[in-house]
Amino acid sequence: MRIVLVGPPGAGKGTQAAFLAKNLSIPHISTGDLFRSNINQQTELGKLAKSYMDAGNLVPDEVTIGMARDRMEQPDAENGFLLDGFPRNVSQAEALDQALKADEVELDAVLDLEVPEDEVVKRIAGRRICRRDSSHVFHVAYSPAKKEGVCDVCGGELYQRDDDSEETVRRRLEVYHTQTEPIIDYYRAQGLVVTISALGKVDEVTRRAMDALKRED
Ligand code: AP5
Ligand code: ZN
Repeated sequence: MRIVLVGPPGAGKGTQAAFLAKNLSIPHISTGDLFRSNINQQTELGKLAKSYMDAGNLVPDEVTIGMARDRMEQPDAENGFLLDGFPRNVSQAEALDQALKADEVELDAVLDLEVPEDEVVKRIAGRRICRRDSSHVFHVAYSPAKKEGVCDVCGGELYQRDDDSEETVRRRLEVYHTQTEPIIDYYRAQGLVVTISALGKVDEVTRRAMDALKRED
């Protein structure tokens, strides 16, 4: 399956993507994680992306689209993928459509995670991620690590993301509403959007998502 996951910052896209990708046997491709991994490795791409991310703005399309395409061309993504955080504006959605068309494949669904803004703020405020791998995600109250400050998966140190400060989160939400939400209408016109509530326990949301995707199958 080829799926796009969309939802505001802190909706639980990364958390759900990990379970959905496993259940569906497709790779989880997160542009946010790809940027953070470049930042950790201090690459030129990482240095460029960091200034935009710290301000809560989108990294320019010229950089992002190439990076996402390179990742989608890896052999593990040949038969499907779960995109998390990409596309994030209409021009990225158009670029993705072109790439899929060139490969003569199509998206199966766009899964839209709906969460009220006050819940999103709580989720982001308590989020802790792993220094070694930013796809290892915890929450101080909702899904705490077994040992405080230590990643259950790999033993890495847990920390708060630089862009999770109150001011940057406010900007990220604004960018979501103005630049990312329009892609929902773009995909609705293609009949691809499935909206689910992302409230409730993590496994309940996963079940809801799997049910919704099965109906699309
Ligand atoms: P990115 O990393 O994509 O961040 P985001 O979209 O803002 O989303 P988040 O990672 O904040 O949240 P999430 O929905 O994954 O939630 P999570 O699962 O962690 O992007 C960061 C930046 O990179 C952007 O601002 C931009 O600068 C740049 N960028 C990335 N992609 C780009 C693109 N395509 N174009 C341009 N720029 C791009 O969950 C949040 C917390 O809630 C966690 O602590 C989790 O444990 C907890 N939680 C999850 N589910 C539940 C639940 N059901 N109940 C209780 N708690 C829960
Ligand atoms: Zn880890």
